[in-house]
Amino acid sequence: MTRTTYDDVTAASFKAAREVPRDGLGAWEEAVRRHLNPVRGMTVVDIGAGTGAFATAFCDWYAVKVMAVEPSAAMRALIPRRTDIEVLEGHGASLPLPDVGVDAAWLSTVTHHVPDLVAAAREIRRVLRPGAPVLIRNAFAGRYDRLRIVRWFPETARLLDTYPSVEDTCEAFAAAGFAPDALEPVPQADLKSLAELLDRVDVLRTADTLMRSLTDEEFARGKERLREAVLAGGVPGDADLTSSLDLLVLR
Ligand SMILES: C[S@@+](CC[C@H](N)C(=O)[O-])C[C@H]1O[C@@H](n2cnc3c(N)ncnc32)[C@H](O)[C@@H]1O
Repeated sequence: MTRTTYDDVTAASFKAAREVPRDGLGAWEEAVRRHLNPVRGMTVVDIGAGTGAFATAFCDWYAVKVMAVEPSAAMRALIPRRTDIEVLEGHGASLPLPDVGVDAAWLSTVTHHVPDLVAAAREIRRVLRPGAPVLIRNAFAGRYDRLRIVRWFPETARLLDTYPSVEDTCEAFAAAGFAPDALEPVPQADLKSLAELLDRVDVLRTADTLMRSLTDEEFARGKERLREAVLAGGVPGDADLTSSLDLLVLR
């Protein structure tokens, strides 16, 4: 089951509202570097690459080559075309790549969209060289206390609890021969003010799987909470302006 249809409208909204600006990703650059140990020219498969935000970041940060595999034509069309990114049609359980050639796999906010994680793990095992890391950036069931969206829209936890947990994910990958290597929450700083979030929530509602799961009333209540906080005019703390997803590494 795919939770969201990434058509032209969703793809455009995703690019506008969900891509984290590069200057908010410093902690991610550092965390991934520690686990990837990048070497110039190594190859990374970005599975469910979306609009290519991380494919381009990885090329710029680490001078690696990225194979950006993405099932949605609308999302693929927005991936920047450059010589260090190969854009490919495919999905988690069907990667258009030969056996055992790839130095790392990256899946960012994708595992909850993959209908058969065991099949995807097996396919990832096929294309990765032995010892290469699988780097998963995601929200996991039961681990979302640092996720900003849940603070303003608490009913998003209902859908989050249906996402694969860390245990489910490790089990699926264990069946393909991977073992967990690290798990750490990594913050992203993607807002300058709460007013910016308030401006963005309507677009987010079309681009974000969690926001789409809210009823109109739940969305309106959360938006009102945000509006009141903006009107109250307090200086937002770090907890309001940053949000963390987990980085799960398996090898
Ligand atoms: C929330 S977006 C994340 C995009 C990108 N990874 C990022 O973090 O910017 C989820 C992406 O997963 C893709 N997707 C959906 N089902 C998939 C599957 N079975 N295998 C791989 N990708 C899938 C969607 O088309 C969409 O582009």
